[in-house]
Amino acid sequence: MIDPIILKEGILNYVENLLPKLPDCLENIQEQGRKYNQPIVSKDAGYFMYIITKILKPKRILEVGCNLGYSATWLGLAMPQYCILDTIEIDINIANKAEENFKKSGLSDRIYIHIGKALDILPTLDNEYDMIFLDAVKSEYIDYLEITLPKLRKGGVILADNVLWSGRVALPDIHLQDKNTKFLHEFNKYFMNHEQIIGTILTIGDGLAFGIKK
Ligand SMILES: C[S@@+](CC[C@H](N)C(=O)[O-])C[C@H]1O[C@@H](n2cnc3c(N)ncnc32)[C@H](O)[C@@H]1O
Repeated sequence: MIDPIILKEGILNYVENLLPKLPDCLENIQEQGRKYNQPIVSKDAGYFMYIITKILKPKRILEVGCNLGYSATWLGLAMPQYCILDTIEIDINIANKAEENFKKSGLSDRIYIHIGKALDILPTLDNEYDMIFLDAVKSEYIDYLEITLPKLRKGGVILADNVLWSGRVALPDIHLQDKNTKFLHEFNKYFMNHEQIIGTILTIGDGLAFGIKK
C-alpha cells in the first residue's frame, strides 16, 4: 500500500509543477526560506490565496504569522491598490527581513508589520477585515479564531494553514500523537462545527482550513 503522506507529496509536486513560474520577488523569498530554514506556505497554498484575494477584492486583510513575508506577498500581489494588510510577527529579526522583502516588491506602504505576540496584538487591532489568515502558533489557533472572528465582516473569508499537519491529524489513536497534532485535530473540529462559519478543509499544501463568516 502507498503511504498516504508520500502519495500526497507526489500529488503536491505534480500540481505545483503545473502552476505558473513565480515572480522574482516570491522566488527570492522562497530561496530565503530554504536558506534560513523557515516555514512558509506551499506554492499551491500561496497561489490559492492569491486567487481568493483576486475574487474577494478586500479592503483590509489580517495575517497572523508573517515570517519572511512570503504569504503576505502572495496576498499583496493580488489585493487591490486601496487594500491594507496587517500582519503579525513575534521575531523582530525575521520581521526586519520581511520589511526588506516588502520594500523590494513595492508593497511596504500597504503591508503593516505588527511586532509582538499575536495574542497581545490582536485585541488592539480595531479594524473590520474582509479576509483573515492564521499561520502562527498552532496551539493558539482556537484563540486566534475567537479573537479575530468578531473583526471579520459577514461573508468575509477565514483561512488557516497546516491544519492537516502532514496527514497526522487523521491518524488513529490521536491521544498518542504529538501536541500540535492534538491541537490541530481539536481546531479542525472546532472550525468545522463553528456556528458562525461555513467552512471546509482543503487538501492544499499542508491542509488549508477555508471558510466564510455567516
Ligand atoms: C509558519 S510561520 C508563518 C509563515 C508565513 N505565513 C508564510 O507563509 O510566509 C509562523 C511565524 O509565526 C511567528 N510566531 C511564532 N509565535 C508567534 C506569536 N506568539 N505571535 C506572533 N507570531 C508568532 C514565527 O516567528 C513565524 O515566523
